Amino acid sequence: MAKKIKIGAVISGGGTNLQAIIDSCRSGEINGEIVFVGTDNPDAKGLQRAEEDRIPTFVTNYSGIIKKYNNDPEIIAAPDDFIYEDILTKQSFSPEGYNPEKIKKFLVTRAVAEDDLLKQMAPYQFDLIVLAGFMRNLTPYFIDRVNTDPLNPRIMNIHPALLPSFPGVDGYGDTFRYGCKTGGCTVHFIDYGEDSGPIIGQKSFQIEPEDTIDTIKKKGLELEWQLYPECVRLFAEGRLKTEKKTFTLDNGKTFERVFVTVV
Ligand code: GRF
Repeated sequence: MAKKIKIGAVISGGGTNLQAIIDSCRSGEINGEIVFVGTDNPDAKGLQRAEEDRIPTFVTNYSGIIKKYNNDPEIIAAPDDFIYEDILTKQSFSPEGYNPEKIKKFLVTRAVAEDDLLKQMAPYQFDLIVLAGFMRNLTPYFIDRVNTDPLNPRIMNIHPALLPSFPGVDGYGDTFRYGCKTGGCTVHFIDYGEDSGPIIGQKSFQIEPEDTIDTIKKKGLELEWQLYPECVRLFAEGRLKTEKKTFTLDNGKTFERVFVTVV
């Protein structure tokens, strides 16, 4: 039998997706094991789930770092290997013309937090990181240190909408308020933008006239618990092939996108 993959998980909240992955590892559906659970939130309920399964946990104090910066930006020292211009050029979260001070605050505080995440992850070997309800954007500082081979991404995320519609923090809410007749969830690898990375899998559900935001969330979460383990299983089986494709548009312009194919 092939070797079990080692999975690191990062969460912020209830951890029901984490639980779905833990259960699938335990049942053997995923040939893998979770080797750590990290969080930005010391009160995340998902930490108890990890502890019940004797999975090591750690906390990175994002809000403390951001508070410190707000009090005095000079106190915060970015990591030694942090090159601001490099990270600024690569990231694509900030719209053009966005306040440069805010961008700087965002990138510096996140790099300090990400440096701590990386240090706390360092004792563990891992093949894949799953973001399971992790409510912080990861910057190129972190991504480049995990994805050392750009064509072999290894950070997955689950998003509560059918991307590329409704990126951001409230996918189900945005789907509902837009009046969509179909909602869904997406698992993707992360890239340098917000919820913009190559799509691995999606599941959808119908939205009926009597649905509310709560029933939509319920329908969506139930699908997330199926979709995320399925995508992790494909990764563990080595069945996710990544390639760069170039498209030419009607206006002659070309654009490139990384595609994931299941083989
Ligand atoms: C999920 O809806 C996920 O898509 C979103 O946050 C929620 C996390 O739920 N990013 P849980 O912590 O896995 O229960």
